[in-house]
Amino acid sequence: MMARLLDGKAIGARLRAGLAERIATLSFRPGLRVVRVGDDPASVVYVRSKDRAAKEAGYDSETILLPETVAESELLAVVRRLNADPAVDGILVQLPLPKHIDPQKVLEAVDPAKDVDGFHPVNAGRLAAGLPGLVPCTPKGVMHLLAEAGVKLSGARAVVLGRSAIVGRPMAALLLAADATVTMLHSRSRDIAEECRRAEILVAAVGRAGMVKGDWVAPGAVVVDVGINRLPDGKLTGDVEFGAARERAGWITPVPGGVGPMTIACLLENTLEAALARRG
Ligand code: GUN
Repeated sequence: MMARLLDGKAIGARLRAGLAERIATLSFRPGLRVVRVGDDPASVVYVRSKDRAAKEAGYDSETILLPETVAESELLAVVRRLNADPAVDGILVQLPLPKHIDPQKVLEAVDPAKDVDGFHPVNAGRLAAGLPGLVPCTPKGVMHLLAEAGVKLSGARAVVLGRSAIVGRPMAALLLAADATVTMLHSRSRDIAEECRRAEILVAAVGRAGMVKGDWVAPGAVVVDVGINRLPDGKLTGDVEFGAARERAGWITPVPGGVGPMTIACLLENTLEAALARRG
């Protein structure tokens, strides 16, 4: 069996078009501010894509660039200014930050009502408790992909590989909230291949190129590859051995063009949600 492709590029574009239509009906433009510190090459690309997508959909989007050498106190002051600015609905501080800045301190300085990354402990805690709040964009995008594929989540055996605060943990919480039976695997887990083979839904978010082998995939499983790894030749590749997995899976996301575009679309969705919640 050859898996069907879960086309995040097309699905994300549809989601953004729907958001643009809704924004055109509003009496205000939702405000997004993305803060980038320094010139990490991947961050330069990501932040540009976020800003462009936001502007295209009709958001009031601005990027705030700070030098690599900015003091932590100065960055915190920028965040506080954005918290206090009524035109700003969503704040995102792009990671990674330079080594002299404590990222946790910065994430905790963002007003939870404007935390469109969903990284503030208040939002992470609300998600863990099964309460509504702003949800991290990447796992939220995965849930959209699963819905588009018509995957039945209730009672499904889902395996999440990776336990990061940004993807793995919130991913497991969202799948659990949708009544899946969730197993989390991580670097200390035993029998990882066997556990993966039991998955009807397999989400790989470890950041290791090709770690998930084709024969770890159950026939007909839905495989979602969150990994974006750069090979020595410059090509991007996921955490899953795509070619071999595709021959067994029922659905599979490509890298690039799977989860990545959904992350940006969900950032815009979160910004609209935050704006509507704040402005009534
Ligand atoms: N760096 C890589 N991905 C992300 C993300 O989703 N949000 C932020 N803030 N930084 C990132």
